[in-house]
Amino acid sequence: MRRVLDGGQFVLGGEVEGFETEFARFLNVGATVGVASGTDAIELMLRGLGIGRGDKVVLPALTADACAAGVNRAGAEVVLADIDAQTFTISPRSLAKLLESPAGVAVKAVLVVHLYGQVADWAALRQVADLHGVFLLEDAAQAHGARWCGRMAGTLGHAAAFSFYPTKNLGALGDAGAVVTGDEMLADRLRRLRQYGWRDRYVSEEMGVNSRLDELQAAFLRVKLQTLEENTSRRRALAAIYTQRLLAGGVVEPPPVLPDSSPAYHQYVVRSSDREALRLYLAAAGIPVTIHYPRALHQQPAYAHCQTMPLPVTELAVREILSLPLHPYLSDESAEVLCEVVNSFSSRTNDATM
Ligand SMILES: Cc1ncc(COP(=O)(O)O)c(C=O)c1O
Repeated sequence: MRRVLDGGQFVLGGEVEGFETEFARFLNVGATVGVASGTDAIELMLRGLGIGRGDKVVLPALTADACAAGVNRAGAEVVLADIDAQTFTISPRSLAKLLESPAGVAVKAVLVVHLYGQVADWAALRQVADLHGVFLLEDAAQAHGARWCGRMAGTLGHAAAFSFYPTKNLGALGDAGAVVTGDEMLADRLRRLRQYGWRDRYVSEEMGVNSRLDELQAAFLRVKLQTLEENTSRRRALAAIYTQRLLAGGVVEPPPVLPDSSPAYHQYVVRSSDREALRLYLAAAGIPVTIHYPRALHQQPAYAHCQTMPLPVTELAVREILSLPLHPYLSDESAEVLCEVVNSFSSRTNDATM
């Protein structure tokens, strides 16, 4: 903060450039283009690829509303596919079905959301996307530092959107986002689109927007990037404790870890067929649990029209999911106590039914 204040440049200066270089190096990707939010990153990524009015973009039905907002802002139409029951990410089989159906006409891209920090089934999705000639794009807003086959989330598709909203695994002290890509022409276009379509000052080569990552946020992100790897390891260690204890308890279903995948555990999401009772039980014990998300996209008034096929896996998940608290500052002891409380729910239920 002091460096920025002393330097006196508050928009698109050395801190943004520094962060863009360092984040690209961290991911091992060609370019990072900083923008004002993750939602803007989705919009601009699509616009940068020429996707807009008259085009469709596939989203998983279980995701943040922001994904649909970004697609809409680009002018494209959202169509929803179902999720995979294990990973909570877009199901390759459902995607194939959608692309083969009449609703699949005019689909230009699939936005694969690595929900909760778990990388989607990339190899299978790649096959389906290539077969239908559509862009495979990533939303890595919840997956900073997650890996699949040794590669970072955000470097698998043609381009990826990141959010650095304060609660994300890499969070700024306000809104911030980025698009990352190995496509240098796309990166170049995004640098214009984020600032009025300018390449040279005061010359709008095309119609752009104002979506700049500001210098203060970039400076904070440079500091926080230094501990991302360590924080991700800590999240993984806590998740390992949760998974071991919760499997032993048998009350809830912990998230499976897939082969070749190292999740970033933005959320640690379990399933329970008695979710509402469990949620109340944990809340009464002072454990802050949340539901990400209480409604799927097609269950929201604004996006009901985006459903073109049954979405049963998503609908069951929405009834069963519960996010347990997980962050790098949680102690092993707290994680263990929390598991004991979760596991005791079973005994209570069993006692009550005996
Ligand atoms: C999966 C996902 N995509 C996109 C976004 C949008 O990011 P932002 O809040 O920075 O616009 C978020 C964050 O809310 C998110 O969780």
